[in-house]
Amino acid sequence: MDLHEKSVSLVQQMTTKEKAALCSGKDYWNLKGLERLGLPNIIVTDGPHGIRRQISNSEDIGISVNYPAVCFPTASAQACSFDRDLLFEIGSAIGEECRHENVSVILGPGINIKRSPLCGRNFEYYSEDPSLSGHLAAAFIRGTQSQGVGSSLKHFAANNQETRRLTVDAVIDERTLREIYLSAFEIAVKQAQPWTVMCSYNSVNGEFSSQNQHLLTSILRDEWGFEGLVISDWGSVFDRVKALTAGLDLEMPHVGDTSDNRILDAVQAHSIPEDLLNQAAERIVYLILKSMERQPYQYSIDTHHKIARKAAGRSAVLLKNDNGILPAKPGASTAVIGAFAKVPRYQGTGSSRINPTHLDNACDELKALGIDYEYAAGYLEESDLPEARLIEEACQIAKDKEIVYLFAGLPDRFEAESFDRESLHLPLSHNALIDAVCEVNENVVVVLHCGGVVELPWADKVKAILLMHLGGQAVGGAVADLLTGRVNPSGKLPETWPYKLEDNPSHSYFPGYPLCVEYREGLFVGYRYYDKAVKAVRYPFGYGLSYTSFEYSDLVISSKSITDGETLKVSCKIINTGKREGREVVQLYVAKKESVIIRAEQELKGFEVVQLAPGEQKEVNFLLSSRDFAYYNTSISDWHVENGKYEIRVAASSQDFRLQGTVEYSGSVEAHLPDLRDTAPGYYDLTSGLKITDEEFAGILGRPIPPRERIPGSPHTLKSTVSDIQDRWVGRLINKIVEQQAKTLSEKDPYLKLMIEKTVPDMPLHFFTMMGANSLSISQVEGIVDILNGKYSLGIRKLIKK
Ligand code: BGC
Repeated sequence: MDLHEKSVSLVQQMTTKEKAALCSGKDYWNLKGLERLGLPNIIVTDGPHGIRRQISNSEDIGISVNYPAVCFPTASAQACSFDRDLLFEIGSAIGEECRHENVSVILGPGINIKRSPLCGRNFEYYSEDPSLSGHLAAAFIRGTQSQGVGSSLKHFAANNQETRRLTVDAVIDERTLREIYLSAFEIAVKQAQPWTVMCSYNSVNGEFSSQNQHLLTSILRDEWGFEGLVISDWGSVFDRVKALTAGLDLEMPHVGDTSDNRILDAVQAHSIPEDLLNQAAERIVYLILKSMERQPYQYSIDTHHKIARKAAGRSAVLLKNDNGILPAKPGASTAVIGAFAKVPRYQGTGSSRINPTHLDNACDELKALGIDYEYAAGYLEESDLPEARLIEEACQIAKDKEIVYLFAGLPDRFEAESFDRESLHLPLSHNALIDAVCEVNENVVVVLHCGGVVELPWADKVKAILLMHLGGQAVGGAVADLLTGRVNPSGKLPETWPYKLEDNPSHSYFPGYPLCVEYREGLFVGYRYYDKAVKAVRYPFGYGLSYTSFEYSDLVISSKSITDGETLKVSCKIINTGKREGREVVQLYVAKKESVIIRAEQELKGFEVVQLAPGEQKEVNFLLSSRDFAYYNTSISDWHVENGKYEIRVAASSQDFRLQGTVEYSGSVEAHLPDLRDTAPGYYDLTSGLKITDEEFAGILGRPIPPRERIPGSPHTLKSTVSDIQDRWVGRLINKIVEQQAKTLSEKDPYLKLMIEKTVPDMPLHFFTMMGANSLSISQVEGIVDILNGKYSLGIRKLIKK
């Protein structure tokens, strides 16, 4: 009997009640097993750049009390490597740690698209480009699952902001949804079959992801062939029976027995078929059986720390290097400035926050490599305001040195899960320090630690900029390797760095309104917009420098024409023309000049990394299929290619084309081309910015734009938020109680403080089932809703009933 048959047979031996009970967690991190049938509880735990295995399984949402684990660079850093092998290696190392900790599923990778650089959780995501995100995620998942440990691909779908993430409705036209926001999931699912997919909190086009049949069943399973288990994000289920019907198998975490009982009642009342429950139960049992095959493992912290150091080195992006100031000349007199050199910012805050096994810092690591320097902190970690005394001290130390390494970036409080950033500014104290040190020394190298894009007002004054993102626990060693030239930088940017926030295409539409966020910019996310709008950017997508140089030559395209179902081979040669070994990220973009449909100037369709010794040459190969030329055609609900000539660009960045050729696409299936030049002209010419009218947006949506705000006085529901219910006296009272509880929780865990403060007003009532020790059952919360709506006796009865 294979595992599948075994899970069917085990479920056949269960009572309806036992099956229903399997469909929600045992506690925060365990799934329920069933002892009488030999099924153990299994553990799932957060990631994704290391494991955050909480010491307690109780319903306690503190994020800091975790078993130590190796903290690898966060996703935003890893993505700069463009390196599938590296992602596999990191995934596999994390899989080994899961085996050590008896963890069956790691809750990652997160692959939501970076629609806005303000998204507080961008450090947990890979890219603004779906193809890059999808392929990297697939490699990471393969790595984890090679260890017999499952992944949970998250957050499906359109969780592109933290503001109101628990309730907001993402309003996206179908073509954009498919091409930009779902493609990465599609690639990862088809290529790597993650054991689980986690739905997002938000709703998509009017329906919560947790109960969205279109997403969870029609697309994920029927179209893409997903075979695993769909898990809820923690506390994202409003209506358990509806969610089960839509395709959500497992609700996490445990929030009382109400959900299980409702499934049971629905089956017993024949309002849902028992087979639906059987299917979910079989998938859960299958996951448990697969987990039982996993062998324990004793990993070496040392080996994993070395992988983390290598990964941080490969994830670094050299943004600027005037006169080849880096790598520094041996023996140059050196100043190290900036508190981040002693205590780096190396990971983000939220559910992914890891308790690292140790933490390198650049000061110690430079010393270990024999670099002598003088140090000054330059700013206080805990304050954003410049301190004249510290700046003066830094200038004194820096002024007569041959080179200055100045460490700057974003402190924890600037970016985290559960809130978005307000600007792309660095702390004033960091900017002021850089300005002042540049006044006294012209050889300033800035090392940046931040999870996402920042504005660089001083970029023209400094000689070099080395972007480390959030490089994990070994980032200090990696910085030392890069500055001294032991490692040659090879990362490239997986997202565009605009000059300023206002340049970003989603700027006018982010983070939206109380009820919804309109994705009016449509397909024009990241470089798809900047290219089309011919908007100058600070650093383009795919950009990054090296200490060596590469030449591209000998482009070969296997055919002059291609049609549906055929593939096209593209190859070229890359030679290292410099004096150091180096790695080059070679990118392939496809562009169509003449077109009647809305389209980006070009799209990334391939990327490969080559490692070359000085003078060495290698061939790089790409394989393109029809899908690489296709757009999503909503009239046939399928991918379709517009016939005509396409440009193939082999490039060192999205703006640095090295080789170009063309191919003719012909004989594509008949389909009505979405020529919207008359009805949505705003999407065709972006050179004066993105100004999309209501009519144009409603036109591409194919329906009226939904309401943005609640009608004042309208009845409350489980979705009403703490700020919504302020219009009722009971609501104001509840607010006081919630604030008090939030305060107690914040005092327990400093990292939670800011997250909680920012989240409470946007918390929907149904989240009261997740308030740790003070949780209410869902029927008690329904009682509160009744009370808010003036049905006092009904509400009170529900509230006091256990
Ligand atoms: C986050 C998920 C995380 C889960 C469990 C949620 O709030 O959105 O990414 O895996 O919590 O901690």
